Amino acid sequence: MTTNNGSNGINGGTGKFPPISAKLPAMMHGADYNPDQWLHDPKVLEEDIRLMKLAGCNVMSVGIFAWSALEPEEGRFEFGWLDRVLDTFADNGIYAWLATPSGARPTWMSQKYPEVLRVGANRVRNLHGLRHNHCYSSPVYREKTALMNAKLAERYGHHPAVVGWHISNEYGGECHCGYCQEAFRDWLKAKYGTLEALNLAWWAAFWSHTYTDWAQVESPAPHGETMVHGHNLDWRRFVTDRTLDFYRHEIKPLKAANPELPCTTNMMDLFYDLDYRAFADDLDVISWDAYPTWHETDSDESVASWFAFNHDLFRSLKKQPFMLMESTPSLTNWQPVSKLKRPGMHRLSSLQAVAHGADTVQYFQWRKSRGSSEKFHGAVVDHVGHEHTRVFGDVAELGRTLAGLTDLVGTPVPAEAAILFDWDNRWAVNDAQGPRNGGIHYEKTVMQHYRALWGLGVPTDIVGSGDDLGAYKLLLVPMAYLLREETGRKIERFVRDGGIAAVTYWSGIVNENDLCHLGGFPGPLRQTVGIWAEEIEGLHDGDRNSVVMAGSNPLGIEGTFEARELCELIHAETAETLAVYGGDFYAGRPALTVNRLGDGAAYYLAARIMDDVFYRAFYDKLAHEAGVRRAFGGELAPGVTAQLRSDGSVDYVFLLNFSGGEAAVGLDQADYEDAETHERVSGLLELPVNGARILKRPATRS
Ligand code: GAL
Ligand code: ZN
Repeated sequence: MTTNNGSNGINGGTGKFPPISAKLPAMMHGADYNPDQWLHDPKVLEEDIRLMKLAGCNVMSVGIFAWSALEPEEGRFEFGWLDRVLDTFADNGIYAWLATPSGARPTWMSQKYPEVLRVGANRVRNLHGLRHNHCYSSPVYREKTALMNAKLAERYGHHPAVVGWHISNEYGGECHCGYCQEAFRDWLKAKYGTLEALNLAWWAAFWSHTYTDWAQVESPAPHGETMVHGHNLDWRRFVTDRTLDFYRHEIKPLKAANPELPCTTNMMDLFYDLDYRAFADDLDVISWDAYPTWHETDSDESVASWFAFNHDLFRSLKKQPFMLMESTPSLTNWQPVSKLKRPGMHRLSSLQAVAHGADTVQYFQWRKSRGSSEKFHGAVVDHVGHEHTRVFGDVAELGRTLAGLTDLVGTPVPAEAAILFDWDNRWAVNDAQGPRNGGIHYEKTVMQHYRALWGLGVPTDIVGSGDDLGAYKLLLVPMAYLLREETGRKIERFVRDGGIAAVTYWSGIVNENDLCHLGGFPGPLRQTVGIWAEEIEGLHDGDRNSVVMAGSNPLGIEGTFEARELCELIHAETAETLAVYGGDFYAGRPALTVNRLGDGAAYYLAARIMDDVFYRAFYDKLAHEAGVRRAFGGELAPGVTAQLRSDGSVDYVFLLNFSGGEAAVGLDQADYEDAETHERVSGLLELPVNGARILKRPATRS
């Protein structure tokens, strides 16, 4: 179980995690704050403090891109302005996530030391400009960062207003300079030891790619090597490790000054280029930046479930409450069309994060910039400069709600269902040249499966191959194309021990080096699922097949469902057939099977079914069979979800209406109290458009 076992950071007495900062044991509410853009106008700080209090904001992320203000010329440091900001915060009960400014370098540095600038895959060095444009290996950049961070740590590491460190900003990107090439070769040497091992892992005999000297190895390049899958995979892993190494370099002086201050770096939704799971142990708390495009269609179900997945993913990285580090209070200015949040959506989307385990709601940004590329991005304080705006009102209202939720801080999400989602699988399945290069749709597939659990109100963790599966009863394994032998064994053990697993087509195809499993797919899962996947066919966008449920199948699901895009031709070996193909030369062959093994069962879905109705029915049955905990016992209409946080004595049930219309929820018991108004609620609960309610009840399980 994820609660109360005492070994995961939860305080057994309270059933909760400690607050992110003991200095501020409340829900954190605030924004990115860039006073360095307003140093010419000192009245702004004064006014900001007044407005922050009015908005119910208790925390700000300060100085994220402030390097030029902190070190206007090499070796000349200016901390006076930051002293004033932080001291004023301390006097007014406002706290700070103090940033290290490495997300953007000052111009003087790029001019004097061009090596700090990134080199592209085309081997051309960038000019100064933008942000996030630095080499993670450059000795000069590392030296300058270490010095800056040491000075910040020495000066502010024990400042009463500082609750933690916001490291850099949205790490990402890669560099192909000489330093990085050298580091890549060292990384490969450490991993493989010999060139023979590397050549075998990369299947280098193919097209005569055999390396005979380490100096021949370099990063993938558009005008060089792009097609060696193992090479591409290792480069991506290396980029993750390099970035993580830079993060470690950044926090070293901070931890030396005060090991107690938590460090985080803000992450991005389903970011492709970095395996965020590799960062989890080194971060004290996970934080991420969420920018949903609401109101694009009548119902927000699809956007909401995508962001729900991300919230679950980020919570699952440490299996602890996380921070919503950025979100917009109104609109962005970088999406193709920037729509305003409709009434209710600010509260709904913020509470969505809280429902999935966020203990903070923070924005980009506090005050709108006057110039440059983000001047029209939503902010708490608009160019008009006062509090009498719709957006400020929404933020202040949420501030009041969050202020009433102090008891929720640290409360776990008790997930008993999990989805396997590995970054290296993602990289490999998208890189593979296989049955459907015109859209393999891995992420969409994962989301389709996830959306069913979301709609059923089943709290779900998003786990990686390295995670312990002992806490779960239901495990979804969609398109686990890259699957290690040991992961196969782990899933087998999970099933034998009584777990219910659902595996799909295109799983167990390659190992960690992107070499195909020999001896029959799905490789390490073949015994567990009891099938052999002999062939797979890609279908054109307009092509259709169908999956026909077998009469009186034990799932009790009836009818025929459309299959598209991918159809695998499988043999049921020890598995029982639950549905068969309806069309083409493989009509009548198994399309859905179950294999009973030990105390559990493993389902195998051979075809991509598109219809959400199927997944909802399928996972409803599996959730029931597995006995997983649900947030809520009643029916949920499409677009409405229920999420759960529980400390073992109190359950918090979040009812969130993303349907785009009004919705009614029949409460499953009489013992509910509204967590905000403290009124008792029972019977039929009406949720307005974009409505969100938080209900408390005595814990249904401890
Ligand atoms: C984030 C970034 C912020 C700001 C924001 C605008 O990705 O971290 O600095 O640019 O986007 O939406
Ligand atoms: Zn470099």
